[in-house]
Amino acid sequence: MTLRVLCVLGTRPEAIKMAPVIRTLRADPRFDVRVLATAQHREMLDQVLTTFGIVPDADLDVMRPGQGLGALTARLVEGLDAAIAREAPDAVLAQGDTTSVLATALAAFYRGVPFGHVEAGLRTGDLSAPFPEELNRVLVAPMARWHFAPTEGAAAALLAEGIAPDRVHVTGNTVIDALLQAPAPADPAAAAPFAPRQILATLHRRENFGPPLARILEAIAGLLEEHPDCGVLLPVHPNPAVGPAIRDRLGGHPRVRLVAPLGYADFVAAMRASYLILTDSGGVQEEAPALGVPVLVLRETTERPEAVAAGVARLVGTRPAAIRAAAGSLLRDPRARARMITGRSPYGDGRAAGRIAAILAAA
Ligand code: UD1
Ligand code: UDP
Repeated sequence: MTLRVLCVLGTRPEAIKMAPVIRTLRADPRFDVRVLATAQHREMLDQVLTTFGIVPDADLDVMRPGQGLGALTARLVEGLDAAIAREAPDAVLAQGDTTSVLATALAAFYRGVPFGHVEAGLRTGDLSAPFPEELNRVLVAPMARWHFAPTEGAAAALLAEGIAPDRVHVTGNTVIDALLQAPAPADPAAAAPFAPRQILATLHRRENFGPPLARILEAIAGLLEEHPDCGVLLPVHPNPAVGPAIRDRLGGHPRVRLVAPLGYADFVAAMRASYLILTDSGGVQEEAPALGVPVLVLRETTERPEAVAAGVARLVGTRPAAIRAAAGSLLRDPRARARMITGRSPYGDGRAAGRIAAILAAA
């Protein structure tokens, strides 16, 4: 008997973190794997699927420019409900905390199909940050049959919410599997820093839109002024709430390179080539420690405290003075940077997907 598993992915990070799971399940005769793209993201999703050689069996194509959360959620639930009815899976899997994941868990629950949550148990304890992802995580938990927690801390958060212990499994984070499977960039130039010291930045969180984003950009401009050997590489997220603000403040600066979202292979190479990373991304907080690159988290709170505890990430918020002080100390003193990257990566050993497969097979 094979277990028919429907793997759902919607955005760039979901595709990156589900790719190792899909590959592992596909290589295992105990599973009949189907892949459904909601395409909450379009170009950024397709970029990752191409990198990992995944062709979805179905595509809901829900992305609309500047999509609002209400309309997006409605389109997703309706499309996923029909897809689950059509595919008739024995289990549904999705990763993370996006609107696609919330809708997948809900549609699976309505259809009575067990749902497995990859990267379960991340919490900030604040429903307003990250918004709306913290609410999505909290809502998904009671609907999940399997909780694949990346760390002991994530598992403990689920148990504290009353989730039955036999449903919670610590697997490590599949992002480390993905990092190890990332191909080398097609163009070796992608791995070269474009300034003597490259700072890589990514910005896209909804709770940072508006004044916090403006403050972050102010801080980056200040850092460039103070450190003439630094250049900032900033792949601009296509959310229309982000690009105009970035281009207005930093566009045209001779030591700022604003580029379209990089393919995963190029982005991993860019992380490796950086002196420092400034980000509000979730996934980058997990990858940077594994690559030994210090990361300053441009948020007030994080659901990934392990990297902060290991010393390789620092939560700096969005105040220019705090960002400039934290980055400045690393830029002025390379020994401070070296001290920051001595901890080991807390997110896994690259074998999370195999553990997930073993748990599903035993079901
Ligand atoms: C979404 C997730 C967020 C995740 C992030 C990863 C929600 C509510 N947000 O945020 O949790 O961290 O993805 O990047 O689930 N767009 C394109 N092309 C693309 C992708 C997006 O043009 O390939 C533009 C569209 O105008 C789209 C907008 O970005 O409407 C916003 O996309 P959406 O998925 O709603 O939110 P993100 O900000 O990308
Ligand atoms: N990433 C990428 N190209 C880029 C920027 C990021 O491939 O130009 C990858 C990054 O390595 C990480 C993931 O995208 O694995 C993070 O996605 P994002 O920051 O959009 O979402 P989050 O992790 O915050 O949900």
